Amino acid sequence: SQPFTILAAAHELPCRVVTNDELAAQMDTSDEWIRQRTGIHTRHIAAPDQTTSTLSTSVAQKLLHQSGVAPDQISYILVATMSPDYATPATAAQVQGNIGATNAVAFDLSAACSGFVYGLHVMAKLLVGAAPGYGIVLGGETLSRLVDWQDRSTAVLFGDGAGGVLVTNDPAAGNGQYLGDDLHTLGDQGAYLTARQLGGSDPDPYLRMNGRKVYSFATRHVPRSLTAGVTQAGLSLTAVDYFLLHQANARIIQQVAKELDQPLAKFPQNIATVGNTAAASEPILLSTEIADRRIQRGQTLALCGFGGGLTVGTVILRY
Ligand code: ACO
Repeated sequence: SQPFTILAAAHELPCRVVTNDELAAQMDTSDEWIRQRTGIHTRHIAAPDQTTSTLSTSVAQKLLHQSGVAPDQISYILVATMSPDYATPATAAQVQGNIGATNAVAFDLSAACSGFVYGLHVMAKLLVGAAPGYGIVLGGETLSRLVDWQDRSTAVLFGDGAGGVLVTNDPAAGNGQYLGDDLHTLGDQGAYLTARQLGGSDPDPYLRMNGRKVYSFATRHVPRSLTAGVTQAGLSLTAVDYFLLHQANARIIQQVAKELDQPLAKFPQNIATVGNTAAASEPILLSTEIADRRIQRGQTLALCGFGGGLTVGTVILRY
């Protein structure tokens, strides 16, 4: 374990809320199907002038404001995203420029829905043994720009948003700890979830997903990864106060809770109103749970992301 305190958590969601009925008016689907199969009721969709970098920048500004940390005190900015404004510059570099974090090294991380957990892992590695300092880890997405709005099997699932945390390795600044982790990449199954292909004989710009394959991957690997992460942290599943899972499907969350024999009350959810926001999913949830004071200092959190790559990752934190 190592000192790793979340000093601030924040999120940003576009104002525009799109209901299942609105989607049903433009494609062959229904509110009932979407609710029953996924747990999603509404999602937020970005306005034309809102992008992954603008949403992420506004989260970073909230983090600085909440924590009182000055922009030039930040050493690293990581943005996990699969829907950046550009291939280059990185979203993290845009955020760095926008907030004036002149001393920060900034880069993006591509691990789809596991991106935020992978980002926490990388940030912990960057800060371990380093002089006391600050880092920002964000997940930001405008998946509405990757989705094929003619494809009902994916279009109903995704939403836009951003979230993140400002962390420090300074033991004098808080008692938070990075307790352990478990991350895996299954690149041989990458074809089950792809987006924005550039080359090849028939390039496809859209997000494509084999929902059934990803579903069975998730229900198999998420319980394994959570169990391995908790074990690596020297804890048991019962010692975890909250399991913050990537919000892809309410049924996946229910099945994981059952598999781990843990009460569903330990698995906070916001999928009903946010949908699947990939890398932004877990930081948005974390930020809301902290703001609503359900997550308290001293509690043990297990964050688990899963998705494109295919990737899965668990990080165990003391908040
Ligand atoms: N409305 C109505 N019917 C639909 C819709 C829709 N929006 N979408 C699909 N259907 C139909 C299908 O055509 C199919 O019809 P058929 O039986 O006549 O062929 C039927 O509904 C069932 O389709 P399935 O794909 O088997 O439905 P399933 O119950 O598996 O639910 C879902 C699909 C929600 C996508 C589910 O598989 C899932 O959640 N998968 C995991 C997704 C995930 O975890 N992704 C990971 C992260 S994403 C990331 O990394 C970006």
